[in-house]
Amino acid sequence: MKILVLNGSPTPNGNTVALVNAFKDGAESKGHEVNVVNVAHKNIRGCMACNYCKNAGNGHCVQQDDMQEIYPQIQDADMIVFASPIYYFIMSAQLESVIHRFYAINAPAKAKYSALLLSSYSPNVYTGATSQYKDMIAYMGLTDKGIITADNSTNKTPSKLAEARALGESL
Ligand SMILES: Cc1cc2nc3c(=O)[nH]c(=O)nc-3n(C[C@H](O)[C@H](O)[C@H](O)COP(=O)(O)O)c2cc1C
Repeated sequence: MKILVLNGSPTPNGNTVALVNAFKDGAESKGHEVNVVNVAHKNIRGCMACNYCKNAGNGHCVQQDDMQEIYPQIQDADMIVFASPIYYFIMSAQLESVIHRFYAINAPAKAKYSALLLSSYSPNVYTGATSQYKDMIAYMGLTDKGIITADNSTNKTPSKLAEARALGESL
């Protein structure tokens, strides 16, 4: 499978990236192709609700920013993984901007599967992000392959990284 990871953490060697790398290692060990896009270091604006995509744009967003290089990767992926730190009980604003820009295409063209990787400081802060994720993938027609959460007691621990790797290996 072609797996696209949309990483919403701005921290290069942080807790979210540790989950992403472990997941990636596991998936690649089973022959999957994993492409990680660090969206927090891209220039991606929020949706302007102009509805160009629904009219003359015919599924293309009018905003000429870095999202234009991500749309083809979304359309080509068999699986989409959303990875983010928890910021005030939801995913990062950078990743939320990417998610809102899915509006132009409604849903990925080919993808059937998804997963969610979340890192936080506190435990039990995932209701917002996970309920958005579940409703979003139901709307997009994706099947969840797994949700992994790590807090301050488990961030970067061998057992948590093994869990993320196992998710990749299970695909
Ligand atoms: C702006 C901001 C908001 C945050 N909000 C929360 C929060 O609501 N709950 C929580 O447990 N941690 C919160 N954190 C902590 C991060 O989620 C946590 O440190 C995470 O592991 C960072 O991941 P990273 O290493 O990939 O950046 C916040 C951090 C920042 C910078």
